[in-house]
Amino acid sequence: MAPLPPAAPQFGDDLAIRPSPETLAFLARRRSASALTLGEPGPTEAELRALLTLATRAPDHGKLTPWRFIVLQGAEKRAFVEGLEAIAAARPDAAKVQAKLGKIRVPPLTVAVISRVVEGEIPEWEQRLSAGAVCAIMIIAVQAMGYGANWITDWYAYDPAATDLLGLTGSERVAGFVHLGTPTEPPLERVRPDVDALVTRWTRAMAAVQRPR
Ligand SMILES: Cc1cc2nc3c(=O)[nH]c(=O)nc-3n(C[C@H](O)[C@H](O)[C@H](O)COP(=O)(O)O)c2cc1C
Repeated sequence: MAPLPPAAPQFGDDLAIRPSPETLAFLARRRSASALTLGEPGPTEAELRALLTLATRAPDHGKLTPWRFIVLQGAEKRAFVEGLEAIAAARPDAAKVQAKLGKIRVPPLTVAVISRVVEGEIPEWEQRLSAGAVCAIMIIAVQAMGYGANWITDWYAYDPAATDLLGLTGSERVAGFVHLGTPTEPPLERVRPDVDALVTRWTRAMAAVQRPR
């Protein structure tokens, strides 16, 4: 049994910041697992429920909960993949898109994180970003439980027939298919960016630079 998080705090509880060296060490070696290596066991129902609860702690401007989850598991997941196979076969790039389906067929559990937009003052961009934060928390949390995860979109996040099959409506879009399971082989470190090359410190002189728009 994977470690489960403690009960969620109650509204208004004191959540004073506590350093967590274990979290830092964990994040320093966080790595996605190839979806094709994700096998049984996947998270249990209790672990999945805990995972989704943690994911809903994502920052959310306006407290709009501009996301929802679709769990794909078991026979229903197989039926969903069969539906994707049929959609793929009818596409002009059938061979290419069919080859991508292994990543959703193989893992025992997939959570589709659905971004939706709530009309009002909060920009759509921020609501979509919040859905991305949900996905990020989910892959971190499930890895902390000891499982492997991979956040994927692939063609079926964008193909209208595939998103109809998934049951999306209106402004809804797939933020990610988060595939979950136990990796059959350990992930290896990949190339990482040079952080220093990504950082500038703003100075007042920068404000004078004219850039094309
Ligand atoms: C929004 C989003 C969509 C992604 N879609 C795909 C995808 O369709 N196919 C794929 O192989 N990897 C995809 N990835 C990349 C993987 O999730 C993963 O991050 C990467 O392969 C390994 O990096 P990591 O170990 O640092 O997480 C996507 C990542 C993000 C953030």
